Amino acid sequence: MDLHNDIDKILISETEIEAIVTDIAKKISEDYKGKKLLLLCILKGSVVFMGDLMKHISIPVQIDFMKVSSYGSGTTSGNLKIKLDLNRDDLDTTDILIIEDIIDSGKTLSSLTKYLAERGAKSVRSCTLLDKPSRREVAFTPDYTGREIPDEFVVGYGLDYDEDYRALPFVGILKREVYENK
Ligand code: IMP
Ligand code: MG
Repeated sequence: MDLHNDIDKILISETEIEAIVTDIAKKISEDYKGKKLLLLCILKGSVVFMGDLMKHISIPVQIDFMKVSSYGSGTTSGNLKIKLDLNRDDLDTTDILIIEDIIDSGKTLSSLTKYLAERGAKSVRSCTLLDKPSRREVAFTPDYTGREIPDEFVVGYGLDYDEDYRALPFVGILKREVYENK
C-alpha cells in the first residue's frame, strides 16, 4: 500500500511547514520569556507538530499530554471526554499552551480551555498548526495559528484518516474516493 497514491494534492510542503513552525516558535519564545511554560500536546494528531515546535523554542519548557474529544454542544467543560488526563498539582503557577493539530468545529479546544481554567491553571492559551474557520460551530479563536485552510479533509504531519497517514512529512488533501468508498 502506497499511502502517497491516496493524496490528491500536497497542501503544505515540508519546507513550508518548517517555516511555519520556526515562526510560531519564535513568537512563543518571546511571549513566554520568564514564565513557566507547559506545552500540552493533544494526542495523537499533535505529536509531530509538538516535537518539531519544542525543538525551536528557545526558552525552557515542560511538556505534557492529554487525550480528549468533545461531544454534544461542546461549549462547556462538561462536554469534554477525557481519555488521558493532565496529572499535575502545580497548575496555579503554570502557563499552559495547548498544542493542537487542527481546529474544525472548535468544540474540543473550547471545552478543553474551560476545563483547564476550572482546574486553576495560571493561564490557558492555544496554538494550532491548521485552522478551518469556515467549519466553526462554537466561537473559538486560537492564540497562534500556523495556516488557515479551506474546508478539505487533510492528512499527514500527525493528522490521520482512520489512524493512517500520520507519518507523511507534509499536509495533503486526501482523495475523496478513499473515504467515500469505505
Ligand atoms: P473540533 O475542532 O472539536 O471539531 O475537532 C478538531 C479535531 O477533529 C482535530 O483534532 C482532528 O482530530 C479532527 N479533524 C478535523 N478536521 C480534520 C482533518 O481535515 N483531518 C484530520 N483530522 C481532522
Ligand atoms: Mg485529533
